Amino acid sequence: MATVAPHNPMARPEVRTSPTAYKALTEHFAKHPEDVPTHSHKWDLSRSDIYYEDKWQPIVAEMQAAGPLHYIDDSPFGPYWSVVGHKAIQHIEALPEVFSSSWEHGGITILDRLSEEELAEAGVDRRELPMFIAMDRPQHTGQRRTVAPKFTPSGMSAMEPEIRARTGELLDSLPRGEVFDWVDKVSIELTTGMLAILFGFPWEDRRLLTFWSDWSGDTELATVRELDEMRWGFLHEMAAYFQSLWIERTQDKEPGDDLISMMIHSEAMNQMRPEEFMGNLILLIVGGNDTTRNSMSGFVHALDKFPDQRKKFEENPDIIPNAVQEMLRMQTPLAHMRRTCTEDTEVFGKTIKKGEKVILWYLAANHEEEIFPDPHTLDLSRENAKRHIAFGYGIHRCVGARLAELQLRILLEEMHKRRMRVHVAGDVERVRANFVHGFRKLEVEITQF
Ligand code: HEM
Repeated sequence: MATVAPHNPMARPEVRTSPTAYKALTEHFAKHPEDVPTHSHKWDLSRSDIYYEDKWQPIVAEMQAAGPLHYIDDSPFGPYWSVVGHKAIQHIEALPEVFSSSWEHGGITILDRLSEEELAEAGVDRRELPMFIAMDRPQHTGQRRTVAPKFTPSGMSAMEPEIRARTGELLDSLPRGEVFDWVDKVSIELTTGMLAILFGFPWEDRRLLTFWSDWSGDTELATVRELDEMRWGFLHEMAAYFQSLWIERTQDKEPGDDLISMMIHSEAMNQMRPEEFMGNLILLIVGGNDTTRNSMSGFVHALDKFPDQRKKFEENPDIIPNAVQEMLRMQTPLAHMRRTCTEDTEVFGKTIKKGEKVILWYLAANHEEEIFPDPHTLDLSRENAKRHIAFGYGIHRCVGARLAELQLRILLEEMHKRRMRVHVAGDVERVRANFVHGFRKLEVEITQF
C-alpha cells in the first residue's frame, strides 16, 4: 500500500476558535441596523429574511410563472442570473465546461471570493484550501475519486449497524414529558455522530465538526468581507486538527476502514498534495453537516405541520424510503449553488454572458408546480418525489447522498420502532441565510402513538 509522508508536520493544536467575530458582528448589526445590506430588486432571492421568515414561496411562484431564469441586476452580492426552473438547472449543470464551479471563476456560492487587492487591503494572508466541489474537470474527477469508494452501497451497508445503534441510543436518551430543542439534541448530535463514524474522528471532540462548519449561516448579519475572514479562520483551524489526525493514521500499519485511513492508503493519494487532502476532508464535513442536520429538523417540522401524513407514516413504515425523498424535496437543505459562465451561451431563450454569475435555486426547483403538483404540501406517497434535486445534478451531484439517505431512513425507522411522535411545542427559529436552508431552533415534545 502506498502511503504519503506528512508534509509540514505539527502537533494537534489547542482548540481555541470561538465565534467571537461572529457574535461581535451580530451585536453590531443589532445596534446599527443601518449597516445591514439592503436589497432593492423585488425578485432578489439572495435576501435571507425571506428564508428566516419563510416567505420565499410567493416570490418563487411569481418568477416561475414568468420563466425559468431571470437576470437580477442589483443585489448585495452583485448582479446575477437567478435560475428557478427544474429543467433549466439540470440543463446548466449538464454543461460543466460552460458553467464553471472553480474558485478561479468565482466558486460555488453567491458570495464572491475577495479579490487579491481586497485581501491585501484587509491585510489578510491566507493559503487556499482546494476542494473538489469548487473544481472543474479534469481535476474534479480525480479528486472525487479519492473519496467516492467510501460511499458505495457496500460502504454504506458496512456503516449501517453503527449508525443504527447510535441513533437508537440517542432516541432512548431523549427527555419525555418535557420541551427540548430537537436541533441541538437530535439533529446536531446525530449528524456529528454520523460524520465522526465516517472519519474515525475522536468521539469526545465530535462537536468540533459542527462548530467548524457553522460559518455558512447568517449571511445577512455580516459584511461580505467579514464573513469571508471568519470562514477562513475556521477552515484553517480545521485543517490543523485534521493534519494531526492524518499524521497519526499514516503511522498505522494496517489501514482502518474510516475515510481518512482509506484516503491515506489509497493509490490516488500519491497524486494529491497535502492541502488538497485537507481541503477535501473539510469539504466532506461542511458538505455533510448543515445539510443532514437540517433535513432531520425539516422532517420533524413537516410531519408536525401535516398530521395526515404523520398518520400515514405511523400506520405504514413501508412508506419510509419515499418519505425520505419527499421530505428532502420539501426541505431542500441547500437553497442554492452557484456557477460562473465561461462563454456567451443561450439558455432557454436568454443569453448568459461570459463571466456572469449564475445561481441555481434548488429550493425553487423542488417547489415547481409543473413538476411537483401542490408543491408546498407534504405527500409521502408522491410518485415523483425522487425527482427532487436537493442533492444537485450532474458531475457535482452530492457524493454523500447515500450516506445522508441512510441516516435519515434509519432515524425514521428507529422513531417508528419506538412509536415516537414528535410535536412542535415551542419556539421555531429558522436560519437567516440564503445558502443553508434550515432551522436554528425547533422546540418539541415527544409522545407515543
Ligand atoms: C455536493 C446537498 C449530505 C458531501 C452537494 C451538492 C448539494 C448537496 C446540493 C452540490 C451538487 C451540485 O453542485 O450539483 C446535500 C444534502 C445533503 C448532503 C441536501 C443531506 C441531506 C452530504 C454528506 C456528505 C456530503 C453526508 C459527506 C459526508 C458532499 C460533497 C459534495 C457535495 C463532497 C461535492 C461533490 C462534487 O463536487 O463532486 N451536496 N449534501 N453531502 N456534498 Fe452533499
